[in-house]
Amino acid sequence: MNNPKRYLITSALPYANGPKHIGHLAGAYLPADIYVRYLRAQQRDVVFVCGSDEHGAAITIQAIKEQTTPKAIVDKYHALLESNMKDLGISFDVYHRTSSPIHHETAQEFFTQLNNNGQLEIKESEQFFDEEAKTFLADRYIIGTCPICSYENAYGDQCEKCGTSLSPEQLINPRSTLSGKTPAKKKTTHWYLPLDKHEDFLRNWILEEHQHDWKTNVLGQCKSWIDAGLQPRAVTRDLDWGVKVPVADAEGKVLYVWFDAPIGYISATKQWAINNNKDWKPYWEDNETKLVHFIGKDNIVFHCIIFPVMLKLHGNILPENVPSNEFMNLEGDKMSTSRGWSIEMDEYITDFVKKVNGGNMMVDALRYYLTAIAPETKDSEFTWKGFQDALNSELVAVFGNFVNRTFVLMHKLCNGKVPPLHSDIIDDADKQLVADIQRTKGNIENNIEGYKFRDALFDVIDLARKGNKYMQDKEPWIVAKQLGEDGKPTPEAQQKIDNSLHFCLQLCANLSILINPFLPFTAQKMCYMMKVLDKMLSWEHAGKMNLLSVGYSLRAPELLFRKIEDEEVAAQIEKLKMKSKKMNEATNTNSDYTSIEKAEEKKPIIQFDDFAKIDLKTGVILSAEKVEKADKLLKLEVDLGDEKRTIVSGIALHFEASAIIGQKVVVVTNLAPRKMKGIESNGMILMADDADGKLVFVTSDAAAGNKVS
Ligand code: 2FM
Ligand code: ZN
Repeated sequence: MNNPKRYLITSALPYANGPKHIGHLAGAYLPADIYVRYLRAQQRDVVFVCGSDEHGAAITIQAIKEQTTPKAIVDKYHALLESNMKDLGISFDVYHRTSSPIHHETAQEFFTQLNNNGQLEIKESEQFFDEEAKTFLADRYIIGTCPICSYENAYGDQCEKCGTSLSPEQLINPRSTLSGKTPAKKKTTHWYLPLDKHEDFLRNWILEEHQHDWKTNVLGQCKSWIDAGLQPRAVTRDLDWGVKVPVADAEGKVLYVWFDAPIGYISATKQWAINNNKDWKPYWEDNETKLVHFIGKDNIVFHCIIFPVMLKLHGNILPENVPSNEFMNLEGDKMSTSRGWSIEMDEYITDFVKKVNGGNMMVDALRYYLTAIAPETKDSEFTWKGFQDALNSELVAVFGNFVNRTFVLMHKLCNGKVPPLHSDIIDDADKQLVADIQRTKGNIENNIEGYKFRDALFDVIDLARKGNKYMQDKEPWIVAKQLGEDGKPTPEAQQKIDNSLHFCLQLCANLSILINPFLPFTAQKMCYMMKVLDKMLSWEHAGKMNLLSVGYSLRAPELLFRKIEDEEVAAQIEKLKMKSKKMNEATNTNSDYTSIEKAEEKKPIIQFDDFAKIDLKTGVILSAEKVEKADKLLKLEVDLGDEKRTIVSGIALHFEASAIIGQKVVVVTNLAPRKMKGIESNGMILMADDADGKLVFVTSDAAAGNKVS
């Protein structure tokens, strides 16, 4: 689309289930930000939306892990992600959240329209059900052996080891992550998006219309999905966390997270419009809007196949492009937060931006390296050594050095003012420099508009390199040694100095415009040094050679970047190794399962006296209720003969509260009281694993209150 009226740019909504690493940043946020900053510099009408993806099993599983509620999880991580993105200069126009009422309404309206128009199918099917936890299992709650790579803990929707998208049926030896048991199949009814009916549309739209402008990695994935034959996709789930299915009798059902999340782009746009008193509709309904989704490669099918079908059925515009990136590895291995092999955005901010001398210059340093090694066409690799090299030998030695030398020499040889240009002595080298600036501007435009951000960044650095070469050839500091009788450079020498520094300064001004989409903090600092307003950074000024007025006095140079020392690199590598070691140890001792899956621990021999300290009594459970905001806990009232006790027990995932009233139990009665979720627990109920590994009560026929010995 040439010259669209407006742009709507989206970055994949990150799950608010934990911190996000710099691989995510490089994949979906930084390239989008570069693109948007470039469009803004061109004064285009552009809205950049994102927000937290707060539904789905990613959230509920994290809530179980952290022993809290899904709401507490999304509140915590939404705040973290929003602040991390801001600190790293990702300039969303709105960072929304899918738990907001506006999103729930938007997603429900979307579903209702499709459903009312008969564009969804309703089907009964058999889904995995955990008999013990009495719940249907979302794909993520089922793990098993990957049929492709044999990894034993692959999820029901994807194997994290080999990256294959899976369905739970494909897993060998499927197990529930709630109970560790083999789940059973149970009938349930769901709404389906009949992708099979839209195959021709997709084939034509993606593989014909966009065959030349979409990236090959994206086209390749789409082609293999379409060629394999598309199936109807369920767009609802049996869960209680998510957007409720807006249909009578759909109790306990929510929209599938991948149905509601991309609609989050629309609700975010609505929120932006409310905040700015604008109309959101043209951004989603007018054909002259250019919609571009920035994502990582694991999101391709959702953004290129499923969401476009939804958009088409709902009457919205389709994305013009989906420039998906491949993955960024780290020091020879896949980046993974759960395995501790990652650099979290938050960690980087703490270590380099907030703690150590650096501040925003270290934000730009990271943005520089991540763009320089962006996985635009294939997986790439972050190494701390590579980061150090890129920073020290490119940013500091080429870009920073050129700007610094120009400013230092201008202060030394031209009284700190922009020197005049003596047109009669302009030579070929000067003309060549001007031509280089103008050509580079065009190259950068082509590269950014073609989503080749690495190449665009290298264009800028190359231009700075040319500046260094120009300065080296002109050597004004040597020319300045041609002194007249007054001990100052001769008039001819001064003219030469003036011209070379005049051109170097105009190049600095151009560099600030050209680097601005990539390294916005650097561009700001350069504006400060040049004493110009931000509006100079407007793209229309790029290529001009009169950006700084003759005679205008400029500030002293400031440090644009700092070097990274060997010790810092070594410390980060050590930190990474320690973190991953710690996480692996924690995973081995604390698997995804509940305690029944844990290996039996051998405890040391104790003396009889130690055992005799434990007071055991028989009891009967009088009442049981779930503890709020704690999936695993039940609050029990237990009759111990001469007294009644409140005991909080971690068995809620194994027993329905109502099913254990009257249960005879054995209780440790002299255990020190303990507060759990604000309730004081006085004692502990003994449990055992039966032959099938199922959790059962240790029980006795004796009446309540008898001593057990
Ligand atoms: O893969 C993910 O992290 C998803 N939360 C991305 C969602 S993108 C969009 F659809 F919202
Ligand atoms: Zn696998």
